[in-house]
Order: sequence, then C-alpha cells, then structure tokens
Amino acid sequence: TLSSTRALVDDAAERGGAVPAFNVITLDQAEAIVEGASSAGVGVLLQVSENAIRWHRSPEPILAACRELAAAAPVPVGLHLDHVEDRDLLRRVFARAGDLGVGSIMFDASTLDYEDNVEATAAVVAEAHALGLWVEAELGEIGGKDGAHAPGVRTDPDEARAFAEATDVDGLAVAVGSSHAMREQSAAVDIALVRRIALRVPVPLVLHGSSGVADDVVREAVEAGIRKVNVGTALNIAATDALRSALAEQPGAIDPRKYSRSSRDATAALVAHLCRIIAPAASA
Ligand code: G3H
Ligand code: ZN
Repeated sequence: TLSSTRALVDDAAERGGAVPAFNVITLDQAEAIVEGASSAGVGVLLQVSENAIRWHRSPEPILAACRELAAAAPVPVGLHLDHVEDRDLLRRVFARAGDLGVGSIMFDASTLDYEDNVEATAAVVAEAHALGLWVEAELGEIGGKDGAHAPGVRTDPDEARAFAEATDVDGLAVAVGSSHAMREQSAAVDIALVRRIALRVPVPLVLHGSSGVADDVVREAVEAGIRKVNVGTALNIAATDALRSALAEQPGAIDPRKYSRSSRDATAALVAHLCRIIAPAASA
C-alpha cells in the first residue's frame, strides 16, 4: 500500500522503533527493496535522492515506478525525496506531489550557516506543509556526501531544538558520528548525544549514513530515539558484489535477467535483514 511518510514515522515512533528508509537508484533496486520489506513484514520508505534523479535526468519516471510498486506492496511503503538542495527540483515535484505519490522530502541546507539554514528550511517547510508533505532537514553536517569521510560538525541539542521550533520541520537529520558512503560498519555513533538530542527535540530524529553503522549500534541508536534510518551504500555493495560474481561465473551471459538475478536476491535479503534490525520486532 502506498502510505504517507508521516503515518510510517508516527507508527514507528509509537512502538519505539524506526522506519527503514532505503535509497533507490534503479528500478531493480526498488523492486528488491519492496520484496525484502514484504518478506520481513515491515513498512519502509523508498527514497530517491536529488543525485539519483539527476542520473535519471528527470524525476517523474523513477518516482512513478516507485509509486506503483508501493501501491502493489503487501506492506505500507512511502515515497521520499532525499537530500534535495535544488529548489527548482522541489517546485517541479511539488507541482505533482499528489499524483507522483511523494509523501515527504529531505531539504538539505546543512552546508549553510545556521541562520541561512533556518531561513531556507522554513520557506521550504511552509510550501511543503501547504501540500501536506512531511519535511526532514539537516542540522550539523553529516560527512561523506562527496565520498570522503569528513568528520562533520556534531548537532548541538539546544540548537536542534531552536532549529525545529524556528522551521516547523517534521524530522531532523542529526550529525552524531555516522558518515555517508562508508563501506565498512565502523562508524562511532555518539549514542549519548542521540539521547540528549532526542530529549530536547520534539520531532523524530533521522540517522543518515547508516551503511557505516554496525547492526547492534543501529539498534542502540533507535533505542536512543532515532525514528528513521537511511541506508544506501550497503545495498549498492550487496548488489554490485553479487553482480560481479555472476558476470564472472557466466562470462557468456548477455541477458540482464540472467546476470542480475543474484544481485536482486542479495538486495532483497539485506533489506529484509535490515528491516528486522531497524523496525521494532512487534511489527514483523
Ligand atoms: O540519505 C541517505 C543515507 O544517509 C544513506 O547513507 O549510503 O552511507 O548508507 P549511506
Ligand atoms: Zn543521507
């Protein structure tokens, strides 16, 4: 079922868990994510980043495909736009948000100064709320967006509270030690900081760069107050490793259905596993 992000996050929060949010680049990945979530019996978000949209050259085809997959899924699936900086892209999606099935966006103005981040985010929140969309923003800078593991600036709990109040944002991505695009689960997440932010901030917190976070640390972060867990790189690694092996094992294969099957299966299996880590056991 196509579900709103708000419903998925509220539901996860009520049960003290988090909603798994998986990055989608290709249709194959979206299919595998829905398959994995369905086998785990867990509602998820399909999230498409501005970068992924740029790869497709336009937002509508991949979003429409995700919407159809969500509508046909046996579990609730929401559609989220991830790490958007381009206001023109937002305008284009806002113009068709209902029809594209998009329930939420993450507006990333984290590289701006605090005051500018507040101003830009508040403007986007006002536009998005008029359409009934759930909005996530980022405070503090989560490293690794260009592939490097920048140390990033940690989110300050008091500033986060002021930011949430000043912007009316619905969810907040926090810089607590995770970093984007990590290939190993070695991030040192400051769980005490997550807890302090969660106590101060009235909106759900979002963990980015979760591919670099070990399963037990993800669990601790959820227990400490994370309500949406974003995973991208780990799915790419699982799919690409499986694809490399399949191509090596079948050097004559030219039909994508032959050489991509193991990739899709590996993605679905990892998604099911992560759903069981991230979402509360009660929902499985
Ligand atoms: O917004 C997307 C996530 O933060 C994914 O990060 O690719 O490091 O798992 P990741
Ligand atoms: Zn992210």
